[in-house]
Amino acid sequence: MNSKIKSISAIEILDSRGNPTVRSYVELEDGTKSVASVPSGASTGQNEAIELRDGDSRYGGKGVEKAVNNVNTIISKALIGADATEQKQIDYLMIELDGTENKSNLGANAILGVSMAVAKAAAISSNIPLYKYLGGSNAVRIPVPCMNVLNGGEHADNSVDFQEFMLVPHGAPNFKEGLRYVAETFHVLKAILKKRGMATSVGDEGGFAPNLNSNEEAIEIIIEAIEKANYKPGIDMSIALDSAANSLSPNLDGNYNLLWSGRGELTSDELIDLSGEWIEKYPIILWEDPLAENDWGGFSTFTKKYGDKIEVVGDDIFVTNRKYISKGIEQQTANSALIKLNQIGTVTESIEAVRMCREAGWRYFLSHRSGETEDTFLADFAVAMDGGHLKTGSASRSERIAKYNRLLEIEHQLKGNSEYRWK
Ligand code: PGA
Ligand code: ZN
Repeated sequence: MNSKIKSISAIEILDSRGNPTVRSYVELEDGTKSVASVPSGASTGQNEAIELRDGDSRYGGKGVEKAVNNVNTIISKALIGADATEQKQIDYLMIELDGTENKSNLGANAILGVSMAVAKAAAISSNIPLYKYLGGSNAVRIPVPCMNVLNGGEHADNSVDFQEFMLVPHGAPNFKEGLRYVAETFHVLKAILKKRGMATSVGDEGGFAPNLNSNEEAIEIIIEAIEKANYKPGIDMSIALDSAANSLSPNLDGNYNLLWSGRGELTSDELIDLSGEWIEKYPIILWEDPLAENDWGGFSTFTKKYGDKIEVVGDDIFVTNRKYISKGIEQQTANSALIKLNQIGTVTESIEAVRMCREAGWRYFLSHRSGETEDTFLADFAVAMDGGHLKTGSASRSERIAKYNRLLEIEHQLKGNSEYRWK
């Protein structure tokens, strides 16, 4: 088996929103071929690694021909002959080639596509499934699917402030059943919305995007759907929220505007108290980005108040970057970090971010982006990282379903040796 890299190339493809993204190809000396496609976010954190976009007349400036060209020339030249099983070495070589802190030179989209395709090629060449190649033989835990059934914020054109309302089937005996719980509830939710004359069209991540009067109404309608689907809220299934609070705070400074809920301007403390009322009242198990990325103090207060009850996840505030996660661990800003491969730009750095969380006793929550492709790398990666839960959208839109289907396949392949548990 000769796992040396023979060729690397890339093309421009479209993501689930119809925006350009990078698809990378790797071929090894032994004939192995792999392909990987890069996702793209909409509600991005300020400190994310840079997605290189052309900024010219094509696709409203969103073309990625520069990034593709960087793969086809600079990256390809540097990596030909390298051994694909040396993931860390390869990723750090690309980081060095880029030479910037945020990958703005070559583009995180150029680097990540190659990083993922290298991992896939090495797994194929070693004849090991990707989840085992990245996670070792102990990688048997299938994540609880946190299904985003109701979309708002920057992911939908409706009147809901919070970006994501997720169903968490932690009471299911296995992934297959958990997926059934949430998919059934998704269909019941659709019927409820329809009966009330509300829109059942979907947002970017495949959840419904009705016009509702408040975040509370969104939570209550989801609880109604759980019950009507014959599941017990809080026992079979709980709720996870992503406020994506950056979008509630135009200056990112600790002043918030729950525009659609008609609550007017709230200070960080007022929003934290209001959140506490909802945590008391509803079966909320996880809350992501309850405050904006610059509101480190507010985040800490939130975690101090509610962190023993729920998982408090930092997304935009940490951006999968160890520099910010370590600050968060030091200041007890949260008790979990969202892990998005393209926020940091390499497989190795994502694994290192997971390791940092694990060592601190934090949880970590594996995540897709709102702009996705049919690539299922995330499903294998989530099993490999043993994180216990992931979010990859709703029970609609094939770019989301592809990941769930890959997880069903992995669970099936593990033939009863798989695990499924929230903690
Ligand atoms: P994004 O949304 O991919 O648009 O950033 C996902 C999230 O905020 O978690
Ligand atoms: Zn988020």
